[in-house]
Amino acid sequence: MTRSHSTPLSVVILAAGEGKRMKSPLPKVLQPLLGRPLLSHVIDTARELDPQAILVVYGHGGERVRSALSAGPVTWVEQAERLGTGHAVLQAMPSVPDDHLVLVLYGDVPLLSAATLARLVALAGPTQLALLTMQPEDPAGYGRIVRDSGGHVARIVEQKDACAGELALRECNTGVLAAPARLLKRWLAGLGRDNAQGEYYLTDVIGMAAAEGVVVNPLVLADPIEALGVNDKAQLATLEAVCRRNTARELMLGGVTVADPARLDVRGRVTHGADVFLDVNVVLEGRVKLGDRVRIGPGCVIRDCEIGDDTEILPFCVLEGASIGASARIGPFARTRPATVLADGVHIGNFVEVKNSSLGTESKANHLSYVGDAVVGAHVNIGAGTIVANYDGANKHRTVIEDEAHTGSNSVLVAPITVGRGATIAAGSTVAGEVPAGKLTIARARQSTLEGWQRPTKRKKT
Ligand code: UD1
Ligand code: CA
Repeated sequence: MTRSHSTPLSVVILAAGEGKRMKSPLPKVLQPLLGRPLLSHVIDTARELDPQAILVVYGHGGERVRSALSAGPVTWVEQAERLGTGHAVLQAMPSVPDDHLVLVLYGDVPLLSAATLARLVALAGPTQLALLTMQPEDPAGYGRIVRDSGGHVARIVEQKDACAGELALRECNTGVLAAPARLLKRWLAGLGRDNAQGEYYLTDVIGMAAAEGVVVNPLVLADPIEALGVNDKAQLATLEAVCRRNTARELMLGGVTVADPARLDVRGRVTHGADVFLDVNVVLEGRVKLGDRVRIGPGCVIRDCEIGDDTEILPFCVLEGASIGASARIGPFARTRPATVLADGVHIGNFVEVKNSSLGTESKANHLSYVGDAVVGAHVNIGAGTIVANYDGANKHRTVIEDEAHTGSNSVLVAPITVGRGATIAAGSTVAGEVPAGKLTIARARQSTLEGWQRPTKRKKT
């Protein structure tokens, strides 16, 4: 999102709140939305504005907040004492050059779009402020925007300081504003705390500006949802639902068929081809790439996977870190763990786990198996209950199963081992040595029947 004018920009994100109402030891701004911290959403949006600096004012849980968000260039500013929003912004001012515009955001208001913020910033300038306002259904708790008889923004009055007439005002403060640093610094330094909460209110700078004849340009949010903040877990769930609806809508408008948009969770980035179908209760995390005509059955959790054209994932699969070819069939109840590579036409059936292994074209493991640290060729049949014993209690070892091999039901392959091309392993075998190509290998006790054997009978009590 390139800004249309060139005034340098510093974004100040307030994140010093304690978040008591979260009732959680995790600092509020680290609570996850779509699987990542609230604050990281705000930082990412700020980045889209291409600012010269992003300054995060932190206080509560400081070290934890800093280390959780160490990636990316952010300047950390400590607010040791929480004396109000004006005091919080003031802490960041020493690091902001006078000729910058300052955009104030909040670590617990994660849904504002970069487009909205760019419009706001464009309304501010060296001698003008911009203020983001809204008209929520219920204005309770918000500061009210007081306009003069000419309709110009004159000041903001906090709910707790407002008289009855002011409380009736419908236009509310989102808290987000853009102001020239030179003026903002002067106003912040002049703030008092003679108000109902005994705090330094950032909102008071609006009245100070208007009193000096500095224009405050309001931008009224069309949809107050964008400015929703998070104070408790119920509001967090509300925001998650908003995000869920938005991502599902985006996918549907991109051509994906979604069985129920209220029952699809996307916590990452999804790219997709044409005619993809996502059934109910699907969770997609990390980076997920879906080819043409991919079908995902109900209840699947898929993280960091690539799935090829025409592949079907049947219900209740948990797939992580898999690269799956075209026309494969996975599940129901299959699990892949990282570094799984499945070629075209592979079938993975119920209660089969695959880890750090590759399966070649049209190979099958249809029932009750574990395949770990294995290189499996093409057209291999892994029989029901086959276990690749890759772990000796200390180290993991590799197994190679060459093309067209068949492993019998309930066989154990003790790694490291190579099963030769076209080899067959008899059912119930535990193989730890060479399994030659093209032959039947049996490694189990021979069946025998005892003639004249009698089943014991109960002795009569005397
Ligand atoms: C503030 C606005 C109010 C607006 C509302 C929107 C002021 C005085 N009031 O009220 O007009 O309608 O937001 O939600 O600005 N924070 C700090 N350090 C502090 C104080 C606050 O970092 O010393 C952070 C908090 O973590 C929070 C944000 O600033 O994320 C807002 O603070 P809060 O005290 O909740 O302000 P509100 O009463 O909501
Ligand atoms: Ca608040």
